[in-house]
Amino acid sequence: MGTLEATKTDEKTTSATGTRDALTVTDHRTGKTYELPIKNGTIRAMDLRQMKTGPDDFGLMSYDPAFLNTASCTSRITYIDGDKGILRYRGYPIDVLAENCTYLEVAYLLLHGELPNKQEFEQFTREITYHTMIHESLKKVMDAFNYDAHPMGMLISTVAAMSTFYPEAHNVHDAKVRQKQIHRLIAKMPTISAFAYRHSVGMPYMYPNNALTYSENFLTMLFRTPAEKYVPNPTLVRALDVLFILHADHEQNCGTHAMRGIGSAHTDPYSAVAGAASALYGPLHGGANEEVLKMLQEIGSISNVPAFIKEVKEGRGEKRLMGFGHRVYKNFDPRAKIIKRMAEEVFEVTGRNPLLDIALELERIALQDEYFVKRKLYPNVDFYSGLIYEALGIPTKAFTVLFAIPRTSGWLAQWQEMLEDPEQKIARPRQVYLGQGERAFVPMERR
Ligand code: CMC
Repeated sequence: MGTLEATKTDEKTTSATGTRDALTVTDHRTGKTYELPIKNGTIRAMDLRQMKTGPDDFGLMSYDPAFLNTASCTSRITYIDGDKGILRYRGYPIDVLAENCTYLEVAYLLLHGELPNKQEFEQFTREITYHTMIHESLKKVMDAFNYDAHPMGMLISTVAAMSTFYPEAHNVHDAKVRQKQIHRLIAKMPTISAFAYRHSVGMPYMYPNNALTYSENFLTMLFRTPAEKYVPNPTLVRALDVLFILHADHEQNCGTHAMRGIGSAHTDPYSAVAGAASALYGPLHGGANEEVLKMLQEIGSISNVPAFIKEVKEGRGEKRLMGFGHRVYKNFDPRAKIIKRMAEEVFEVTGRNPLLDIALELERIALQDEYFVKRKLYPNVDFYSGLIYEALGIPTKAFTVLFAIPRTSGWLAQWQEMLEDPEQKIARPRQVYLGQGERAFVPMERR
């Protein structure tokens, strides 16, 4: 062992039991030994930089494609233990919130850190309902889309366009201004989403009704025709509200990472939410719920399930069992458990979706098949949610929009936390350059 080069030990690195919370590393290129503090189960990547082979060396970096083992922030919003299948918002288990709360209560919790009392909740609900209408010119933006435009494409573009309607939103350091945009976004997402659907089926837009709850209003904007009375079924309203709760936040996933990354440049929240929603749109992320339905329809009947599973296994990652697997959950996804239970309640009202039997058979086979067991692949939130959306009468193309509506509160809570975190700066990862060194330019005629 060489000399101890950079001792960073202080009282904070000594634990109550007298052991030091520190990591000793020897750089065998130089023989030097370093002691790196460990805090909250992490070492600082910047502490590696002091390890150099000479004065011209940039210093050691960590290499972590796709952030498999890198924390990019501290957070107090959502806790996940993937091995135990635990998900909590602000300390409350997800099943307890799903059982006892409305989506707007949970949105308040995510944003403010505490569940609202009656007065706080009424005030918050008032703020949200006050902002449910969208600017008539924004409606014209939506009119410009082709009749078969994907609702996610419409949602993303319309949310981005909102930044031009509320230029004050650029003032991201003003907490009051931020609050207003947060209310606007949570309020207008269902309206834009419903309008996107109505546009795709050629039906007139149905304006929001502020006498209704968040989920009642959304279903009404989706399905009411001007000619008829429409009262959404309370079981279906509650099911939608619970789905919104389950989708509200999920710590540092791809979309939230995009939200924080874009927001770190002090971009306005509309543009940042449009970016986060773009990430969510991908089939490996929130777009999976649409893919699950397409997959179940493609399989067509229970008798085709074994052949499909075989194809997935032989595809070795090329063809995936959509709605299965998760970067963090390696036991079960607690959201999927709640959704599966809720599907039964919904089907009692709507009639049983025949695709459910295919889904159950896929799950049954996959959970005992060595390929899936070895890789710890379990049904995720998207596996059963699409079946409920379909039972609610929502077209497959609009499924991811139903994920984006509630995730907006999570994105905004994370965005706000990032802006208030003195340790955060503009997100700017490093790279390991493996390309050509400097070389001589060759004119075109000699190439
Ligand atoms: N079907 C078949 N094989 C799979 C699947 C799947 N759904 N998911 C992962 N694998 C295999 C993968 O091929 C790899 O095998 P091998 O070790 O032989 O190369 C192994 O399992 C590990 O997979 P990975 O791609 O390294 O895992 P990841 O953590 O990077 O990916 C995931 C996580 C969710 C992207 C992936 O499981 C997946 O593509 N699932 C299907 C899409 C899906 O349902 N997405 C929704 C996720 S939950 C909601 C959300 O995040 O929005």
